[in-house]
Formats: sequence, C-alpha cells, structure tokens
Amino acid sequence: MTRISLTVDGARVADDVEPRMLLVQYLRERLGKTGTVIGCDTSNCGACTVHLDGESVKSCNVLAVQADGCEVTTIEGLAQDGQLHPVQEAFRECHGLQCGFCTPGMVMQSVALLKENPQPSEEEIRLGLEGNLCRCTGYHNIVRAVQHAAGAGSTSTSDTGAEQGVTA
Ligand code: FES
Ligand code: FES
Repeated sequence: MTRISLTVDGARVADDVEPRMLLVQYLRERLGKTGTVIGCDTSNCGACTVHLDGESVKSCNVLAVQADGCEVTTIEGLAQDGQLHPVQEAFRECHGLQCGFCTPGMVMQSVALLKENPQPSEEEIRLGLEGNLCRCTGYHNIVRAVQHAAGAGSTSTSDTGAEQGVTA
C-alpha cells in the first residue's frame, strides 16, 4: 500500500492505495465519485475524463498514486452553490446528450478545451473532443453546446463557473 493525499473537488483526502489502483477506481470506489464513469477502461472513450491540476486526463489512464499531491476536479465538482457550470448549462440548453453516459467526460473535456481556446472554430471543437466518444448523438448537439458555451463567455481559467457569473 502507498499513502497518497490529494484534493478532490475541493476536499482534502488521504488514503492508502495499492500502487496498481487506477485513479478512476479510486474516485469511484473509495470516494463514491460515481459521476466519473468507465466506458472502456482502455483509454479510448474519454468517459472517465477529469482534470488533474487543471489538465484534462483520462482517469483510467492514470494511477491513483500519480495523483498524489495533486488537485483533481471531477464532474461533481463543477457546479458551485447549486449553479451549473456554464458548460454544463450549455449541454442542457443545446440537448448535447441523449443517454448521458459520455456526458461527464464530454463536459470535462469541453471545459478544458475552452480554457485553452476560448473561441474555438467548429473544426477545433471536433478536434478537441476527438478523444471522447459518444454512441448516441452523432456529436452535432455536443459541438453546438460547446459553441454555445463559448458564446456565453465560458472562458474562465478556473474549473468552476461560479466566478464567471455567466449563464447560458
Ligand atoms: S474509461 Fe477511460 S477512456 Fe474509456
Ligand atoms: S449521450 Fe449516450 S453515449 Fe453520449
């Protein structure tokens, strides 16, 4: 077992974990953060995307021990004070989901994309989301949602939308 301590969605946690435990397993099984889902377990689908020190990562591709000392944000940490993050709001507004399974990863990747490129073209959005697979929507409304969020000014360097005062 290895001792790790990290911050997850704003809360400090410390735990003993097996060195082989994946970050996604740690989040789901130890912390109950089941909003982060597992679609493939082989780094293909992006459903497990979270932010690690502000960078989007596929949490099935990161060991829990690699997150030691880091700040992790999951889909459960985006909304603040009962207010959806503007990107979450945009997905809701534009119907950027059907079954919703890919949505946590799509939203987390979209937040990271907009942080890097606040006004992406459609092509840049599609490129930025190419590591995230959706089996339902054909991507059209997902791209629209990201465009909508960009138009609403979802360009904060923060993971959380609270300080932006923006609603879609
Ligand atoms: S579950 Fe991590 S990429 Fe699919
Ligand atoms: S909305 Fe069903 S997998 Fe994307």
